[in-house]
Amino acid sequence: MYPLKRNRRLRTNEAIRSLVRETIISPNDFLVPLFVVEGKGVKEEIPSMPNYYRYSLDLLQNEVKELWKLGLKSVLLFVKVPDNLKDNKGTEALNPNGLMQRAIKTVKNTCPDMLVMTDVALDPYSAYGHDGIIENGVILNDETADVLAEMSLSHAKAGANFVAPSDMMDGRILSIRELLEDEGFTNTGIMSYSAKYASAFYGPFRDALDSAPVDMIDIPKDKKTYQMDYANRFEAIRETEMDIDEGADIVMVKPGLCYLDIVREIKNEVDVPVAVYQVSGEYAMLKAAAEKGWLDHDAVMLEQITAIKRAGADIIASYFAKDVVKLIS
Ligand code: PBG
Repeated sequence: MYPLKRNRRLRTNEAIRSLVRETIISPNDFLVPLFVVEGKGVKEEIPSMPNYYRYSLDLLQNEVKELWKLGLKSVLLFVKVPDNLKDNKGTEALNPNGLMQRAIKTVKNTCPDMLVMTDVALDPYSAYGHDGIIENGVILNDETADVLAEMSLSHAKAGANFVAPSDMMDGRILSIRELLEDEGFTNTGIMSYSAKYASAFYGPFRDALDSAPVDMIDIPKDKKTYQMDYANRFEAIRETEMDIDEGADIVMVKPGLCYLDIVREIKNEVDVPVAVYQVSGEYAMLKAAAEKGWLDHDAVMLEQITAIKRAGADIIASYFAKDVVKLIS
């Protein structure tokens, strides 16, 4: 008697393992988040995100060129807005000469073929650190969606290829799509953060942009009235299907690792590309453990990225993008 199947035959050496490998990572998988600040010659490390930086526009150019050389062809822009420009309505977000609008032009001038996606949400512009306009203790939905549409239009005018609303207001994809169509921006795409959970993994990102919700008497300090409850699964499918119906070209699940069950389910359910955001807290956890010598940084990084793709991600937004591409090339 011998075992009917010997699965280990397919694991004998690297040649056979690579021949039968089901998931291959390449630079084409990645969307690179970039943090932009005002100033000149600024390259500031984000304390809770070791080896990740905020760049002023002049140094952003070098970074973008480096990404392009590595084969990384898509970026997702975020801006750190000076405190004195923040208010309740995100007025600065619509400034045609605002930091985001200048950042879009800078990337496009430096590297015309780089795909530029932009974060669309009020929180970096909000004096309260929330993704919506606040009135009498509530985050207003429809009024916020209107501003997000105007913001998207402003990014499209500056040259963005895709806008990426990350706020979770109801109906915002429709508001954005309608305004873009009305104004002739029929080729500007929408990547919707469609299943975005109220997660404790966003902490380092809020440090990066100084965008954490502030203490207030009548509004909770978390984002649970708009981002999803992490206990829920059906809700993610409902959110995603609605965003596709409203006009989303790409949908997203966020965060990554803790939500790979959701990624697979959505991948099986929908026929548009699915993006996954491996968020700041996931990055910080590995950096910290590696710094202590408790985990092998590169090995764990590759395992995590591969797991995200295996789960069904067509696009991975990750702070590890450069590290991964350098490792595999
Ligand atoms: C805000 C936004 C957040 C992230 C992307 N856009 C934080 C939040 O919702 O509070 C998080 C990304 C990360 O943690 O890497 N609209």
